[in-house]
This record gives sequence, structure tokens and C-alpha cells, in this order.
Amino acid sequence: METRSTVAAFERVFSPIELPELTPTNYLVFVDTTAIFNEIKQLQRTLLNSFWLMIIVVLLLSFLLSILLTRPIKNAMEKQRRFITDASHELKTPLTIMKSNYEVLLLEKEETIQTQIEWLENMKFGIERMSSLTNNLLALSQIEQTSNKSQYLPINVHSIVQEIILPLNSRMNEKNIRFCIDMKSGLVLNTQKEEFSQLLLILLDNAVKYTNFDGWIEISVKKMTRKTHISISNSGAGITANDLPFIFDRFYRVDASRTYANESFGLGLSIAKEITGSLNGKLKVYSKPDEKTTFTIIL
Ligand SMILES: Nc1ncnc2c1ncn2[C@@H]1O[C@H](COP(=O)(O)OP(=O)(O)OP(=O)(O)O)[C@@H](O)[C@H]1O
Ligand SMILES: [Mg+2]
Repeated sequence: METRSTVAAFERVFSPIELPELTPTNYLVFVDTTAIFNEIKQLQRTLLNSFWLMIIVVLLLSFLLSILLTRPIKNAMEKQRRFITDASHELKTPLTIMKSNYEVLLLEKEETIQTQIEWLENMKFGIERMSSLTNNLLALSQIEQTSNKSQYLPINVHSIVQEIILPLNSRMNEKNIRFCIDMKSGLVLNTQKEEFSQLLLILLDNAVKYTNFDGWIEISVKKMTRKTHISISNSGAGITANDLPFIFDRFYRVDASRTYANESFGLGLSIAKEITGSLNGKLKVYSKPDEKTTFTIIL
């Protein structure tokens, strides 16, 4: 019924055109597909939007990831740049001293060494400072090299401390510093002797340098479960909470130590930290200004 009425409708619309006789096998059907097309278009739009969204998310993620991955490299490069600037600056000072004193010497060619001794002494100071700085820089680079390390051997801590303190005795006497050791004489530690001695020397040298006149220094060694705690404490001005986070940075000197500007580079503790790391240990610091400062090596 319906087919017949559809055919009749066609004949009415297309009557001016010669149409073949419509039979149930060759009739045409027109279907309204607008809704489907709209749906397909909507789907296309959604897919396109999702595609751009994905692209933006991927770009953002890769951007964030690249920042995260390159940050340590950037930090290391910045650290190295700062290190080179500081080292060059520290080298420039003794070089300027030597150059200016040499020029003064040249002005008075007829004078004797005796009369020019002041300028020569200044030059000697510059040479000593340069050689001390290059030794420190060399020590730092040597610690960073994994090869060239001494062997782990059982060492007697008491005798190592006695050995190291010997050359510091005269400076302690000059400042009238009381020194005491609190440890068992037979205490043995399995470590690298040279590196460990260098570490103790740096900390003891600081202790002597920064202890006040008539002050005190104490070394105590305690074995706790599997770790050995070696603490070096001293009296004196100490380190403020503001300075504490930076004292292990290379070339960092606390303001109060300006009095020691001629004998300091601010490299000692950064070397000590590197050595402790290479010995798989930890270096901790505690300071109560004007009371006591303690550096503890945990191995
Ligand atoms: N035992 C200590 N008591 C008080 N202050 C200390 C002590 N050890 C270190 N400091 C402070 O920490 C700073 C950094 O010490 P570090 O040994 O790195 O450098 P430095 O002694 O100034 O120079 P360098 O060791 O290169 O000659 C010092 O300038 C000093 O102010
Ligand atoms: Mg020092």
C-alpha cells in the first residue's frame, strides 16, 4: 500500500519528465540523513578537539619533563661556572699583590734586598696563598676522581689523632687553647687512612682557627651499633643559623671570619664534605653561637 502511494507521489512530482515505468524493483527511495550527518560532524568535531587537546597535553608534558630533566644539568653547570669565577677571583688577589710589589721593586733597582724586604715579603705571601689555593683545588679534583684511592684498612683512631694534632700544637699554645681527647685508645676503624687523616686535619685546623683565645677543643669518638661517631667540638663565636646551610659550599666564608681573610679560602669544609661522601659517611654540624660548635663525622 505504502509503496504504491510513494510511487504515485513520485509520478506527481516528476510528471513532466519521462519516467520509466516504476515497478517495485526499480523505484528510488529518498531518506532524510541530516541527523546522521549532523551526528558524524559532531563526532568529527569531538575527535578533532580531542586530537588538539592531546597535542597540547603532550607538548606541555614534554616541556615540563624537559625542564625537570635538564634542571640538574643546569644546576651543575651553574655550580661549575660559580666555582670557576670564585677560583679565578681568589687567584687574582695574590697575583695582583705579586705584580704590584714587583713593580715597586723595579722602581728602586739600586736598592739592596735588605732595604726592599717589605715588598719581597708581600710577594712571598702572594706565592704562599697561590700555592695553598692550587693545593686545595687539586685536592678537590682528586677526591672527585674515583681511581687513585687508598685501600680500606683497620686504623687506630687515637694514634691518627695524635699524629694530626702535633703540627697544630704551636698554634693552640699561642691561643692558650685547652685540648682533650675522649676515646678508647684501642679503637680501630676500617677506613682509607689518607682520606680520613685529611678529613680530620681540615676539621681540626678549623677548630684551632675559630676557637677563641683561652678556649677549648674536644675530640670524642664513640662506637654506636655499626657506626662510629667522631665529634670535634670547640668554643668560640660559632656559626649562626643563617650561615649553617651554606658553610659546605665552595668558597663560602662566614662574615665573622673576615679576620681570617688572609688565611682562608672557604674551601676546607667543601673538601671535608667530599671526602666524607667518598668514605660513604656523613658530616653533620651543630653550632650554638658564642658557646660551642661541633662537627661530627659518621662512618
Ligand atoms: N670549628 C669551627 N668553629 C666555628 N666556625 C667554623 C668552624 N669551622 C668552620 N667554621 C666557619 O665555616 C666557614 C667555612 O669553613 P671552611 O673550612 O670551609 O673555610 P675557611 O676555614 O674559611 O677557609 P679554608 O678552610 O679554605 O682555609 C668558616 O669561614 C668559618 O666561619
Ligand atoms: Mg677551613
